Amino acid sequence: MASIKVDLQTLKGVQGKVVIITGAANGIGKTAARLFYDYGASVAIGDLDEQKGNTLAAEFGGRGHFMKTDISGWASQRLLFASTFEKFGSVDYVIANAGMPEKSGFLWEDRFDAAGDLEEPDLKLIDVNVKGTLFTSKLALHYFEKNPKRGSALVVIGSASGYFGGIPIAKYVTSKHALLGLVRSLAILGRERGFRANYIAPWLTSTEFSSEIGEIWGDRPINSQMEVAEAILTACADKTLNGRGLFVAKQIVDTEVPLHQLESQWLGPEVAGIFEMGRAHIQQSFGKDPTHYLETPGYQE
Ligand SMILES: NC(=O)c1ccc[n+]([C@@H]2O[C@H](COP(=O)([O-])OP(=O)(O)OC[C@H]3O[C@@H](n4cnc5c(N)ncnc54)[C@H](O)[C@@H]3O)[C@@H](O)[C@H]2O)c1
Repeated sequence: MASIKVDLQTLKGVQGKVVIITGAANGIGKTAARLFYDYGASVAIGDLDEQKGNTLAAEFGGRGHFMKTDISGWASQRLLFASTFEKFGSVDYVIANAGMPEKSGFLWEDRFDAAGDLEEPDLKLIDVNVKGTLFTSKLALHYFEKNPKRGSALVVIGSASGYFGGIPIAKYVTSKHALLGLVRSLAILGRERGFRANYIAPWLTSTEFSSEIGEIWGDRPINSQMEVAEAILTACADKTLNGRGLFVAKQIVDTEVPLHQLESQWLGPEVAGIFEMGRAHIQQSFGKDPTHYLETPGYQE
């Protein structure tokens, strides 16, 4: 088990940094925004919830910024990033946190139109959780390049559902698996472009998002928002972390290094060997160092 400890001294590293957090008017994002502020960062909030977003930004005074944002809209997110850069002069950390739960319109439910034909499923959740997070990541990489200090960090809020299925919320599970792929793919660019990318996989966490499950949860373990917020700050402040999956279930365990180390058990030695050879070759053909990014330190400022 690769346990990751929250070190309050390390968290102080966020002091003076500029962080953009999507979906920070409520829940995990809001608690993370307050923690970043308490540790001395400037905080830009992008959220659909104008009232709560503005109230939170006002709490942060000159170190706060709010822009009404729908992450599924490119122009909307571009404005969030541009206005943050204009106000604070850099973008150091980006927390792609906004997301939709799947509470209705399940993929396995059939709906029919007036002609009796099967209706196209509503994929708004994919637009928000996947397309919206790809937009956030694209803008993050663009603004990290403008950041002369470098050492920037992208943190993508996935879910335990990014590793496990077994529950019939297919659109949500698909979206969070997709975001794990996003982080695994971007982490390799980190060293040459001066940023790190990490995935946070919270287990059930007490927020509005999970309120319906919360009602039937009883006394089973559930994360506090602060436990996830501390993992988010750790992913930013701990410069050794890149390409990791911080699985948060009352404690933090990294899922990515152990999975990588167990590859030959997981796939069998022959298949693992073939895969490893191919991976290194493809990496080289893109002009990248063939060493696996999980075997090398992340970008160090
Ligand atoms: N709560 C849990 O149990 C849990 C578990 C695993 C992962 N997560 C993930 O954590 C993240 C935050 O969830 P939360 O529990 O804090 O939820 P929440 O409902 O408390 O907050 C979500 C915030 O995102 C905003 N938002 C929603 N759609 C948006 C959009 N299109 N554009 C901009 N903002 C938008 C909402 O207005 C809200 O402020 C989500 O990505 C969620 O998938 C939550």
